[in-house]
Amino acid sequence: MKKILFVASEGVPFIKTGGLADVVGSLPKCIDKRYFDVRVILPRYTCMRQEIKDRMQYVTHFYMDFHYRSEYVGMLEAEVDGIHFYFIDNESMFNGFKPYSDYVLDEITKWAFFSKAALSILPVIDFRPDIIHCHDWQTGLVPVYLKERFQGGEFYRGIKSVMTIHNLKFQGKWDVKTVQEITGLSSYYFTPDKLECYKDANLLKGGLVFADAITTVSGTYAEEIKTPFFGEGLDGLMRARSHDLRGIVNGIDYDDFNPATDKYIKHKYNAINFRKEKVKNKRAMQAYLGLEQNDKVMMIGIVSRLTDQKGLDLIAYVMDELCQDAIQLVVLGTGEERYENMFRHFAWKYGGKVSANIYYSEDLSHQVYAACDAFLMPSLFEPCGLSQLMSLRYGTVPIVRETGGLKDTVQPYNEFENTGTGFSFANYNAHEMLATIRYAEHIYYDEKREWNKIIDRGMAADFSWAVSARKYQEMYDWLLS
Ligand code: ADP
Ligand code: GLC
Repeated sequence: MKKILFVASEGVPFIKTGGLADVVGSLPKCIDKRYFDVRVILPRYTCMRQEIKDRMQYVTHFYMDFHYRSEYVGMLEAEVDGIHFYFIDNESMFNGFKPYSDYVLDEITKWAFFSKAALSILPVIDFRPDIIHCHDWQTGLVPVYLKERFQGGEFYRGIKSVMTIHNLKFQGKWDVKTVQEITGLSSYYFTPDKLECYKDANLLKGGLVFADAITTVSGTYAEEIKTPFFGEGLDGLMRARSHDLRGIVNGIDYDDFNPATDKYIKHKYNAINFRKEKVKNKRAMQAYLGLEQNDKVMMIGIVSRLTDQKGLDLIAYVMDELCQDAIQLVVLGTGEERYENMFRHFAWKYGGKVSANIYYSEDLSHQVYAACDAFLMPSLFEPCGLSQLMSLRYGTVPIVRETGGLKDTVQPYNEFENTGTGFSFANYNAHEMLATIRYAEHIYYDEKREWNKIIDRGMAADFSWAVSARKYQEMYDWLLS
């Protein structure tokens, strides 16, 4: 039995701000339990819901040297669907109303603490993983500490590490001197071939240099990040490590996201009866959100973090034009104020047609996937994207920009060959997007049989974890061979 330890900053069902949590919560369940014992370490945030905290059991605590002081490290545990979750507890590190703050230095400190604590606790709980699988910049120091600090001790010697990039844009950067003090790493590590990056210290870069293997969440993004536009300053490193870099496309939890059993939706349906049943969810949503009641109108959904990654500038640019069409638009998201206000403005201007729901809601997100006819995701870049996979699963036709995982998971409709599961466009151009939406409208209104066949193909596509989990297993086997 090989032991794998996931280290991450968020995971379903405990805490979620985006797709990272979906992956960390669902992938471990799908790794073959006959060969792998996968466990997960997360922080225990004070902002977690009480019922979630109540599920955790105290295990142990100790004190760890960190940043010239001795810090409390508590550990709790919980089991979900046969997966063991551990939680690192330290109230002063993981306080606040949300998991991440806007104060970069606080974040750097917090994640340096978490990375060191996650490694230090392992002998205490007597769990020696064969591989530590790290996710995103918050855990970038784990491979660094592992290779250079802890390898001296018998316990840690030979443990391999994997760094998975969910989003290269976030790297955890601060000046070298301060990071050196916080991490306690010697100046040896702060050179341009290690943690230093354009004069600053960069935590993700540390992880990418020291990990034994690197993955990212789609094949296309794995190629894109070797180029300057997507590389966020690290494209040179990605090229240098291209032999150790693989793209493995994300899956979604097919039990949590299943229109036939989803507890969040009133009218369940499946790939056979969606033609009659799915529309009932649209009707319910129109009533709930105060949109014009109309079974026939094409309802387009957006469920998203509202950041510039998601292509919202394109939408803002043509929103007035789009709203002249026979469509309804339902938005669910939070993020940058300018986008929140943009959608609020259009909901006010086109009441009955546009609904802006500027908050986070698991319930409503499932209802949007179920109720809408189409789902819009015109991202500037998208490492993988899970929302389009959820849409496909719910018979909601994705309209996406061909980048990253969107390109790998949505097959564009081809009217001459009767193929495709959605609609897509290539360039980051608002009118190219609008033309694609209008083409989709045309198929929806004038070629309903074709539209339904697109749904048939989308619902038949398999984006469960089955295939991708096997690819992770192959990588684990390769690392340990
Ligand atoms: P990213 O991780 O970049 O935010 P993904 O498409 O990979 O993008 O994953 C986004 C996840 O977050 C999906 O599960 C989506 O349903 C969910 N999500 C985003 N915004 C909200 C929101 N306001 N309310 C509920 N769920 C949301
Ligand atoms: C990141 C990316 C998103 C991806 C998710 C899970 O948040 O922005 O594209 O699906 O991680 O890997």
